[in-house]
Amino acid sequence: MTFYPYKNGRLHIEGVSLDELAARVGTPFYCYSASAMETAYTSFVAALGDLPATVCYALKANSNQAVIRTFARLGAGADVVSEGELRRAVAAGVPAKKIVFAGVGKQPSEMATALDAGILQFNVESLPELEALSRVAQEKGRVAPVALRINPDVDALTHAKISTGKAENKFGIDIPSLRGFLASAADLPGVRIEGLAVHIGSQVTDVNPYRTAFERLAGLFVELRDAGWPLERLDMGGGLGIAYRDDAAPDIKRYAEIVRETTQGVGCKLIFEPGRFLTGNAGLLVTRTVYVKHGTARRFAIVDAAMNDLIRPTLYDAWHDIRPVAQSAADAPREPYDIVGPICESSDIFAEQRPLPTVAPDDLLAICSTGAYGAVMSSSYNSRPPAPEILVRGNDYAVIRPRIDYEELIGQDRLPEWLEDEGVSSEPRGAA
Ligand code: LLP
Repeated sequence: MTFYPYKNGRLHIEGVSLDELAARVGTPFYCYSASAMETAYTSFVAALGDLPATVCYALKANSNQAVIRTFARLGAGADVVSEGELRRAVAAGVPAKKIVFAGVGKQPSEMATALDAGILQFNVESLPELEALSRVAQEKGRVAPVALRINPDVDALTHAKISTGKAENKFGIDIPSLRGFLASAADLPGVRIEGLAVHIGSQVTDVNPYRTAFERLAGLFVELRDAGWPLERLDMGGGLGIAYRDDAAPDIKRYAEIVRETTQGVGCKLIFEPGRFLTGNAGLLVTRTVYVKHGTARRFAIVDAAMNDLIRPTLYDAWHDIRPVAQSAADAPREPYDIVGPICESSDIFAEQRPLPTVAPDDLLAICSTGAYGAVMSSSYNSRPPAPEILVRGNDYAVIRPRIDYEELIGQDRLPEWLEDEGVSSEPRGAA
């Protein structure tokens, strides 16, 4: 099933034409297919079958209220990594009892907010963090539910910048230091260790590293529970990748099988924290070509989206499919284009030497698979208001985040008193 059909020669998202959306909000803009998100969620849940699982959508992938609520309606919880995300999850209607708070650097004030909300668990990654949480909980006369995030020292075979499960990564508690850790943790009155957690990295496409990580996690779980720790839950993290090109997507059934095999007989509840898998292929970034420039070495299509809208190609050398909104004949000749933004950096580039049918000024292009880690990682660099977001469902659509205007953008700044004077000189060398 495609959520992005060509109809009457123009690219659509579900039943809505991208031309119509471009006319409504201008370019660049993000649009998401609600049906693609729902399908991804239900396929994830279906693969897990009768496993006792709670799926906590990792908000960091796309934290628009409408997106969170789409998943909450289907029964999802939330994986949050900051007070901001916690507040977004609660505001979108996610029950606190389905919220997991992860991250290596939680502040005491954030812990306090999460305790007051009554979340399911804090995923703790270090002894100082556990001590801080115990203090915060004790001050409130509470006991915080904790899962210890284990660093399994497993290579997730993904991009180095999004690999998190190796000993040299900042994440989790090393297995060799776990016993010493637990000896210190035993006396802390404000925490109760109820689970273990792991997350080996993101955009994981070879599911085999999961087996090693989950085996280690399940082994530790049984060992600690036998030693008397009141463990109830295993948090398997997120990370399952998507197909960015026509290459094979990771096999969700194999993934679920690995979970089943490695946790069989352990007798615990399971938590999953997928982000990209649920939203990645549900989004397009639509941009308009401003100029086409023929250099001596390259042909550039200069578009109106930029690295401030989508940083993934710049940051991770990520490859995103780029489709012209105007359908071309299957046998139309293709030429290599560099698709670049207007920002004054050579790294402001979406694709290099990409074979495309002729691109002309004003042509719309759709940058695909941008529903995860797209809008959430955008900025206003070069004083460009971030791209608006639209959610589409069937023939319906709604603007779920409008573009802010320049007044609002500039209005976020404040002048200090000493600069609040009549104005500045228009003389070439300053005040006469
Ligand atoms: N759980 C934890 C503890 C995580 O650190 C992450 C992602 C997830 C779950 C969700 O992972 P996912 O299922 O989305 O792979 N900005 C990067 C991705 C960073 C992922 C960080 N952690 C990118 O654009 O590829």
